[in-house]
Amino acid sequence: MLYDESRWKPMISEILEPIVWTNAHLIGNKAIDDDHRKLVLLFNELLAVCSAGADSAIIGRTLEAAITLTREHFNREEDVLQASGYPRLQAHRQEHQVLLKQLVAFGAQLTGGAPMSVDPNVVGFLREWAIRHILGHDREYAAYLQQNSLEESGI
Ligand SMILES: [Fe+2]
Ligand SMILES: [Fe+2]
Repeated sequence: MLYDESRWKPMISEILEPIVWTNAHLIGNKAIDDDHRKLVLLFNELLAVCSAGADSAIIGRTLEAAITLTREHFNREEDVLQASGYPRLQAHRQEHQVLLKQLVAFGAQLTGGAPMSVDPNVVGFLREWAIRHILGHDREYAAYLQQNSLEESGI
């Protein structure tokens, strides 16, 4: 066989690998950094309960907690960005809305089935989502916030 699709799919063990948090992910705003750290912990917990094949009630509760914290975090982050006059706030806010919608939709899929039918691709999506946004896109405003706080403090 020339093309074997299964070779290109990540292994389930890779998909469920915990997200590693390091100081390199710090934004420099305490409230946002605390949220990000808690979100990573929650997503890791979610990955762990999914890989352990926990029953759907436990997965559902963990997922619900992740969605609630994500929603609160997005609001908090948007408030901070608004207060600092971040010029790309509108685009970032839109991205939050899209992500939250996807998270809720994928969550419904995840909790809709029996415990054994947890789709690794769905869990993989959640993991990618957390990594890409929290540890990636949010870095785009980190420099702006840092510059702003330096200006405010007169440095
Ligand atoms: Fe964030
Ligand atoms: Fe964000």
